[in-house]
Amino acid sequence: MLGATGTIGQATVRALVARGHEVVCFVRPRAGVGGQLQAADMARLFSGAVVRVGDVQDPVSLARDGFQGERFDALVSCLASRTGVPKDAWAIDHQAHVHALGIARQAGVSQVVLLSAICVQKPLLAFQQAKLAFEQVLIESGLTYSIVRPTAFFKSLSGQIRPSWHASVATTPPNPCWCSTPPPSFMTRRPHRPPAARRCLIFMPTW
Ligand SMILES: NC(=O)c1ccc[n+]([C@@H]2O[C@H](COP(=O)([O-])OP(=O)(O)OC[C@H]3O[C@@H](n4cnc5c(N)ncnc54)[C@H](OP(=O)(O)O)[C@@H]3O)[C@@H](O)[C@H]2O)c1
Repeated sequence: MLGATGTIGQATVRALVARGHEVVCFVRPRAGVGGQLQAADMARLFSGAVVRVGDVQDPVSLARDGFQGERFDALVSCLASRTGVPKDAWAIDHQAHVHALGIARQAGVSQVVLLSAICVQKPLLAFQQAKLAFEQVLIESGLTYSIVRPTAFFKSLSGQIRPSWHASVATTPPNPCWCSTPPPSFMTRRPHRPPAARRCLIFMPTW
């Protein structure tokens, strides 16, 4: 699990653990907004999951500290640049994912769930282009994937808007690519449903 300490990542880890998955979170030593989360916080936050610490931008660390030579079934990523500035976006949203994908494949991963964003459909900004570029790498990887593209309705950086997956979400078009369940639940359930595999899935809430 990459990006476990983010807004959607934290909820996704809880959902994965609740579903009985064995979850390994790969985090940096000082995580969270402003690096406020330390080891003890993360142990508490990710109760039921394993926390491993390293540098997601360093392939050596990813392999040595993250995967640790073990076999894994799936890679779930809510990893995203916190700043969105071009250098960070390309380093995190694209390059770190490329490294992780390669190492994950070596570790036996056959399924990848990637949290992306609806805005990549009109990729004007660097972070959108970086996300889209990795989506393409994933699509061409030959692995089974689900790319989730939520609309911007949950706030990650400032916490000004409460996480909205608690809100009632009911009406969506009857298209199998559209989803009416909250992102964390969706991220964790879809890997087990073949119709969602090898697709971009658009999460569009209504309230
Ligand atoms: N927020 C929205 O409204 C919205 C809407 C649509 C789509 N999305 C997309 O959904 C995804 C996740 O969003 P979110 O709101 O959960 O994001 P977030 O709260 O900003 O979380 C980002 C995650 O990426 C990690 N990360 C960033 N830079 C890192 C680095 N250098 N090294 C290690 N980890 C790093 C963060 O770790 P640290 O805790 O260590 O910083 C955190 O776990 C993104 O792709 C985002 O674009 C968001």
